[in-house]
Amino acid sequence: MEKYIVGNWKMNLGDGRGLSLLKHLATLKIFPGVRVVVCPPALLLREAHHTLSPGLALGAQDVSAHPGGAFTGEISAAMLKAAGCQYVLVGHSERRLYHGEGEALLREKVRQVQSHGMTPIVCVGETLEEKKQGGALPFVTAQIRALALSGSYLLAYEPRWAIGTGLTAGLHDIQDIQSVLKEQFGAPVLYGGSVNAENAPDILALPAVDGVLVGGASLDIEAFSKIIESTPK
Ligand code: PGA
Repeated sequence: MEKYIVGNWKMNLGDGRGLSLLKHLATLKIFPGVRVVVCPPALLLREAHHTLSPGLALGAQDVSAHPGGAFTGEISAAMLKAAGCQYVLVGHSERRLYHGEGEALLREKVRQVQSHGMTPIVCVGETLEEKKQGGALPFVTAQIRALALSGSYLLAYEPRWAIGTGLTAGLHDIQDIQSVLKEQFGAPVLYGGSVNAENAPDILALPAVDGVLVGGASLDIEAFSKIIESTPK
């Protein structure tokens, strides 16, 4: 099965550095069985599509739940599709936390993405509190069930306490949680949260890990290319 390496730039590199990173990425040798998806800021999507295709795929960091109309500041799934996106992150913990995105809205976002022929990368993950209270797995399973997902989608398990902190979940925990998710939902499951060039080989070698969602380390060409290279062949 294919392994996914997804780079989420978040709100970074919207300037010349982003364009130069895209140019570097376009020169990388991607082995069969590895799917690299780059999610730059929305304003770079068209340029990124032009620079990265056909070797690398393009993803958006977010999408509107509405098909179009009077929604100031939003970007519709149709617009993302026209810009060349094949994937869209939905429900990233920063969207849930800072923008109050809840289940009903996320269900609509998934629907918009799928109905425009793109694949949602649905992000889930527990806080430390939630992990201590009831355990990560029941929390994450409930988070996914609440979205009533169907059709084609990817899951990204990202413990909230691991995002941008330098902490990662233990390898056993990742394997245990993700193998249950894979079985229950029948979708590929990526791991995310402080993935870097050093820990990626061990994480990517886990059988229940179908790829990684990389934030900070995707901004650095050396680190990101090492992560891509460390994908088991
Ligand atoms: P990080 O971010 O790799 O910087 O922890 C991951 C993410 O937010 O998807």
